[in-house]
Amino acid sequence: MKLLLIGSGGREHALAWKLSKSKKVEKIFIAPGNGGTAIEKKCENINITDIDELIKFAKQEIIDITIVGPEDPLTNGIVNKFKQNGLKIFGPAQNGAMLEGSKSFSKEFMKKYGVKTAEYEVFYDADKALKYLNTCLYPTVVKADGLAAGKGVAICNTKEEAIKAVKSYMIDDIFKGAGQKIVIEEFLEGVEASILSITDGKTIIPFISAKDHKQIFDSGRGPNTGGMGVLAPNPYVTKDILKDFEENIMDKTLVGIIQEGFDFKGIIFFGLMITKKGTYLLEYNVRMGDPETQSVLYLMESDLLEVIEATLSEELDKVDIKWNNGVCINVVLASDGYPGDFVKGYEIKIDDKIKDKVFLAGAKLEDNILKTNGGRVLSVIGLGNTLEEAREEAYENIKGVTFEGAYCRKDIGIFK
Ligand code: AMP
Ligand code: GLY
Repeated sequence: MKLLLIGSGGREHALAWKLSKSKKVEKIFIAPGNGGTAIEKKCENINITDIDELIKFAKQEIIDITIVGPEDPLTNGIVNKFKQNGLKIFGPAQNGAMLEGSKSFSKEFMKKYGVKTAEYEVFYDADKALKYLNTCLYPTVVKADGLAAGKGVAICNTKEEAIKAVKSYMIDDIFKGAGQKIVIEEFLEGVEASILSITDGKTIIPFISAKDHKQIFDSGRGPNTGGMGVLAPNPYVTKDILKDFEENIMDKTLVGIIQEGFDFKGIIFFGLMITKKGTYLLEYNVRMGDPETQSVLYLMESDLLEVIEATLSEELDKVDIKWNNGVCINVVLASDGYPGDFVKGYEIKIDDKIKDKVFLAGAKLEDNILKTNGGRVLSVIGLGNTLEEAREEAYENIKGVTFEGAYCRKDIGIFK
């Protein structure tokens, strides 16, 4: 089969690596890809991002299945357009993609179908939102309604901080439209978990749980990032928590998808907060997480392409996804300065013996040399029978990667 994979992050390198292991796969084109997908087996990057151009390419090359990595093309309706052109594509159509594309839409969906989530109010008007801040409890959470590249959530400890957030979103318009409408939400205290799942619109299967480490510094200090490393499975997701999640969040979400008539054959990522009052859904993403994918796919023993094919033919009820019983950690190596300003273009050197343990993200191949090209440059994998073994291996493997200014957290996988 010939596949087309859309995206350019570490997630896409992990997807390309996993898909390339399938005996059924002959070739994977990645649009636009990165330095990692440029050197992966069976893979070739193509420099196209426009949806109409991608359709033309998929027809010309007789692509069997297109797989979408990031959320932007999904909320822009790439799935609808490919299907109108008779092309097979994995991902939700635009209506279902709005579960990630609009916070107010997803909160209304959660309320309608009884999915356990934080209390909230939606505001279209800055004056009304500012007045509401007089009545809420602190900390409170202010969220931009639309996609804001992971930066649209402000945890406000005081009313003053909340006023600042509301004004910057709604009046100063820092998210260029995405914060014109906002959600103000109850603050939930607990530990977070990411559970990715796959659905064909009839059946939903959870993947192994994961724990992201969002802040830039050890012990969860400093500003939020796209994610500095992931541990899978997530040790906080016990059997009881999983049952609570499946009953009160996952199954109800599937009911909602069916009743709303969404054309949803793809990934649903549940961003959870495990609290003393039970497990709550913070948000949906309609794609795999980054860097969750790097750890979760490393543990998947089943052929991902076969799982995707079963999803597209609505036969997920016949699938039993097999997982490695071990623990996987990926530690992100970032450019010095990230998530603020940083310099790009430094050479990246990777020891041959750990080549299969590195997923590249903000990296490009230039004249056969790998160079840094983003904030989160790459992830290094550690796999073990126990958490300690996985941690030890990941931090040992990291010694085999060098580039100027490389920074990583030292506490990925440590938990109380
Ligand atoms: P989101 O984009 O909704 O996942 O939010 C980004 C991050 O903000 C989450 O991963 C949480 O760390 C935090 N967050 C979002 N909503 C809440 C909430 N209601 N209570 C506490 N933290 C939250
Ligand atoms: N790692 C969080 C995300 O992909 O949204």
